[in-house]
Amino acid sequence: MELTEIYKKGEAELKTRDIGWLLDGVETEFVMSNNRRVLDQYTIKQRCIDGVVPATQCTVLGVELKTPVIMSSMTMPIPAIVDNGLMQVAEGLREAGSLIWTGTPIPQNLKDIVATGVPVAANAKPLKDRQKMFEAIDEIQSAGVNWIGIEIDSGQGTKVHDRQMAADCSPLSLNELKEIRERVSIPLIFKGVLSKEDAEKSLEAGADGIFISNHGAHTLDYLPHPFQVMDEIVGVAKREAVILVDGGFRRGSDAFKGLAFGARLVGLGRPILYGLAANGAEGVKDVIQEVSEEMKRFMSMTGSVDPEHVKRDLLIKG
Ligand SMILES: Cc1cc2nc3c(=O)[nH]c(=O)nc-3n(C[C@H](O)[C@H](O)[C@H](O)COP(=O)(O)O)c2cc1C
Repeated sequence: MELTEIYKKGEAELKTRDIGWLLDGVETEFVMSNNRRVLDQYTIKQRCIDGVVPATQCTVLGVELKTPVIMSSMTMPIPAIVDNGLMQVAEGLREAGSLIWTGTPIPQNLKDIVATGVPVAANAKPLKDRQKMFEAIDEIQSAGVNWIGIEIDSGQGTKVHDRQMAADCSPLSLNELKEIRERVSIPLIFKGVLSKEDAEKSLEAGADGIFISNHGAHTLDYLPHPFQVMDEIVGVAKREAVILVDGGFRRGSDAFKGLAFGARLVGLGRPILYGLAANGAEGVKDVIQEVSEEMKRFMSMTGSVDPEHVKRDLLIKG
């Protein structure tokens, strides 16, 4: 199935379910429309003479991937989409040479997901009950995942339209982030960084990765798209930590732009749900492979030999 067809079929399918509202955004939904608007503000400079044969493989924080296009953290509503939803997502991503990133709730079958052989990252929320948060972090770590993500942006929980979810959270302090760092022996990524100040504090706390994200419009209204803040964050963080980005990325052109802005990895949220709803594990695999193939076409026609050589000056604003 082609990408357009997968997205159309998957979205239509999910919208008919009682979980369909989870695809929407917080309050006025400004973040949703702004994500697309900002992604569309950039065109791509073609440099095709002496075009290259690009490779999309990359090694990030010890994990080898066939593509820098990965899944963004989600658990809910995957088990409600198809039987064994998380396992199907894991299989689709493994076949595509990508990475699965689980969210809230922490999957009970996290160890089974790890056993499929797909690289795994798993998130923990800043639960008000810090004891429970630390237990969750220990639980994730003992499941054998590759990386742990901490949702630093969920301090006010999450929200879709007016519906508050995960309200049992509160913002983490720098000292608490340092405490988490001491406890975690595998790569640690802070998700939801949207300012230079939070990037600096993340580095101070010892983050291996900084995930620039507005949480796909599920936390606060009127957050910027990552591209609106990325240059200053990458400026302070790129040499010390791996940069990841997500928020509205749908096509290979979007993923290419994410790499050009300085991300090593680009995350897809809703597209993974569409792939799963449209065609199970195969649909998830197709989403990653087709976005990656599209991205490769741009790499070839811009002289970008690999994901790390997709440069910022290949983007034209306006
Ligand atoms: C249904 C749904 C559930 C999500 N659950 C989580 C979660 O548990 N933890 C988290 O950090 N982000 C979560 N997110 C946000 C995604 O990880 C990601 O940041 C966002 O979806 C990216 O935007 P996109 O959907 O436009 O690609 C969720 C997003 C959706 C749509």
